[in-house]
Amino acid sequence: MMAVAEASQESLKQRLNVSGGHGLKGTLRVSGAKNSALVLMTASLLSSETVELTNIPSLTDIDGMSAILESLGVQVDRASDRIRLTAAELSGSAPPYELVNSLRASFFSIGPLLGRLGHARVPLPGGCRIGARPVIEHIRGLKALGAVVNVEHGIVSASVPGSRKRLSGAQIVLDCPSVGATETILMAAVLAEGVSTIENAAQEPEVQDLANLLNTMGARITGAGGPVITVEGVERLRGCSNYPVIPDRIEAGTFLMAAAITRSPLVVEPVIPEHLSAVLQKLRDCGCSIEINGRSVTITPGEIHAVDITTQPFPGFPTDLQAPFMALMCTAKGTSVISEKIYENRLQHVAELQRMGASIRLESSTAIVEGVAQLSAAPVTGTDLRAAAAMVLAGLSAKGITEVSGLKHLDRGYDDLEAKLSSVGAEVKRNIP
Ligand code: UD1
Repeated sequence: MMAVAEASQESLKQRLNVSGGHGLKGTLRVSGAKNSALVLMTASLLSSETVELTNIPSLTDIDGMSAILESLGVQVDRASDRIRLTAAELSGSAPPYELVNSLRASFFSIGPLLGRLGHARVPLPGGCRIGARPVIEHIRGLKALGAVVNVEHGIVSASVPGSRKRLSGAQIVLDCPSVGATETILMAAVLAEGVSTIENAAQEPEVQDLANLLNTMGARITGAGGPVITVEGVERLRGCSNYPVIPDRIEAGTFLMAAAITRSPLVVEPVIPEHLSAVLQKLRDCGCSIEINGRSVTITPGEIHAVDITTQPFPGFPTDLQAPFMALMCTAKGTSVISEKIYENRLQHVAELQRMGASIRLESSTAIVEGVAQLSAAPVTGTDLRAAAAMVLAGLSAKGITEVSGLKHLDRGYDDLEAKLSSVGAEVKRNIP
C-alpha cells in the first residue's frame, strides 16, 4: 500500500518537458488495455484457482489493483507483462477505503466478492474531477440478483440472504449503458443460480474481453459486445492460463493523434481496428490517410481540417479521447465543435490549451475550437488522465518546450509514454527534482 502512495507522491513533483516541432517516424507499440486489465484482475476473485493474464500494462493503476486484491487475500505474482492471481482462500471481503478511493474500477470488485462469498463491503468510490460518477446502476443490478444492499457511512454493504449464499438469476434493464455496472453485474451473475439477462448493456470492447475471460474460466455468457447479455449461472469457475488482455484502444488513439498533430506518418500496432472505428473515421475526415493491415494501422496525415465530434458510448467516439482530439483540433484549419456528452466536467483541459495559445470558446459542455497556426509552449497541468495526454500532444506540436505537470494522472494510464514517444523521434524528458 505504501509503495503505491509513494509512487504517486513522486510523480506529483515530476514534470514532462516536451520539446515541440519535431517530426516523428517509426512504429509505436500499444500496451494492454488498462480498463480491461483492471476488471480482468478483479475477476480472479471468482475462482479458487490461479488466473494468469498476459499483456498487462505497467501502470500505477495496476499496482493499485494488485494492492487491493492482496488486501483481500489474493496471492499476486507479477513478472514483466504477466500476472498470476490466486484467490484460493479469501481473507477479507472489505477492501480498504484509501485504496478504493483512488481507483474507481476497484469498486467493481463488489460483484465477484458477492458472487463468490455471498457478502461484500466496499467503500463508495471517491469523487472525480471529470464529473459525478454514480454507482446506482451497479447497486440496482445486485439487488435484482437477490442481494440486500445498504449504503451507510460511505460504505456499500451487500449480502445474499439465506443459508446458500447464492445469488439468483434475474432480468436487469440498465437505465444507462454503464461500463462498470455491466461488468459488476456480469461478474456477480456468473455464479448465480439460473439465467440472468442484462439489457441496455454497455457494448465496450472491455466488456467483451471480460466475458471472454469468464467463458474461458467456465462461465456461460452470450451476447457480450451487444446490447443484451445472457448469463447462465454455473456453480464454480476454474482458473486459466495465458489469457492476453486486448490492446489499449485509448492508448492507440492517442498515438494516432500524436501522428496527426505532428503531421508525421506513423505505424501503430497492435490495434483491433473495429475497436477504433469511430476514431479512425474522424481521423480520415480531418485529413489523414489510414491504412489497415491486420493489427497494424499506418497513419499518414495531410492538411488537417476541423471536424466536429460528440462523445458517446461505444461504438461512438469515446470520451477518453475527447481531450487528445481537442488538442489536434487546436491546430486544424477551421472551426470544430466538440460536445462532451458522457461527463459534465470533462473540459478542464480547455483552460490549459488556452494557455498555449489555443482559441476555444466554451458553451456549457460544448467547446468551439478555432484552429490556430501554431501553439506556443507554456507550463501546463494535466487535470485528469486523458487531459494530461492532451497536454503532451499539444506540446509535441507547440513552439518551444512545454512543461507538463499532473504526471500522477498520466502514469495511471500510459505505459512509459515518454520512452515510447522518444523511440519515434519526439523530445520528451521527465524532469525528476
Ligand atoms: C469506464 C471507463 C472510463 C470511461 C467510461 C466511459 C473503466 C475502469 N473506466 O468508466 O475510462 O471514461 O467507462 O466510457 O472502465 N452513470 C450513471 N449511473 C450509474 C453509472 C454510470 O448515470 O450508476 C453514468 C455516468 O455518470 C456517466 C456514464 O454513465 O455519465 C458512463 O459511466 P460508466 O460507463 O459507468 O463509466 P465507468 O464504468 O466508471
